[in-house]
Amino acid sequence: MRKPMIAGNWKLNKTLSEAKKLATELAQQCQDIHDRDIVIAPVYTVLSSVAEAIKNSPVQLAAQNCYPEDNGAFTGEISPLFLEDVGCELVILGHSERRQLLGENDAFINRKIHKALAVGLKPILCVGETLQQREDDQMLEILTRQIKGGLDKVTVEQMEDVVIAYEPVWAIGTGKTATDEQAQEVHSFIRGMLQGLFNQQVATATRILYGGSVKPGNVDGLMAQDDIDGALVGGASLNVDDFARIVKFEKQV
Ligand code: PGA
Repeated sequence: MRKPMIAGNWKLNKTLSEAKKLATELAQQCQDIHDRDIVIAPVYTVLSSVAEAIKNSPVQLAAQNCYPEDNGAFTGEISPLFLEDVGCELVILGHSERRQLLGENDAFINRKIHKALAVGLKPILCVGETLQQREDDQMLEILTRQIKGGLDKVTVEQMEDVVIAYEPVWAIGTGKTATDEQAQEVHSFIRGMLQGLFNQQVATATRILYGGSVKPGNVDGLMAQDDIDGALVGGASLNVDDFARIVKFEKQV
């Protein structure tokens, strides 16, 4: 059985005092939840304070990005070593905003995946098509390229620590969610790909999160789908009650 994961991507939001408050309140609301992984990804500058706020709670810390070197002359960058040092357990990689705004490509993201895995950080690899690509029938080709490229030379053993997030770009921050069926269809396609690239065991065990306008009102339907193992939540993760409700999704049968 795959353990569900609900991850909050705070993006470029929450100053130090706001971040400490949100993390503290979330830790309180989630104190007794152990049957699912709860993750928050704040900005770099508040990571260590948030780590302090959530210690002794089930909430895990993630970063939103990293650079694929340990240390050295890389002005302005942060490496997995430093993230691990402040208490991060996971790192979001290949988010569509980084692909689009900062020109990140699959080869660069793949280097980050390897560096993260090498220091014991679990990568959440984000993939997803734009509206144009979906309309042009390129969706499966794009997803295949992003997953193959992102996971190049990752081993079967390393896949135990990899989480994939399917985030259709047209659903991010737009209020448009993929329907439960649209999301399920893509998740099932991705799982099939993992079987081809690795094996059946990896395909069955890998968690695939859905992201893109996940809210308290749509999480239950999404989580009822066979191949949706969790959510990567942007906007709704900035409000403690909304995010706690998403964390406490009800599994419909
Ligand atoms: P959203 O963002 O929930 O605000 O759509 C999701 C994401 O970008 O991870």
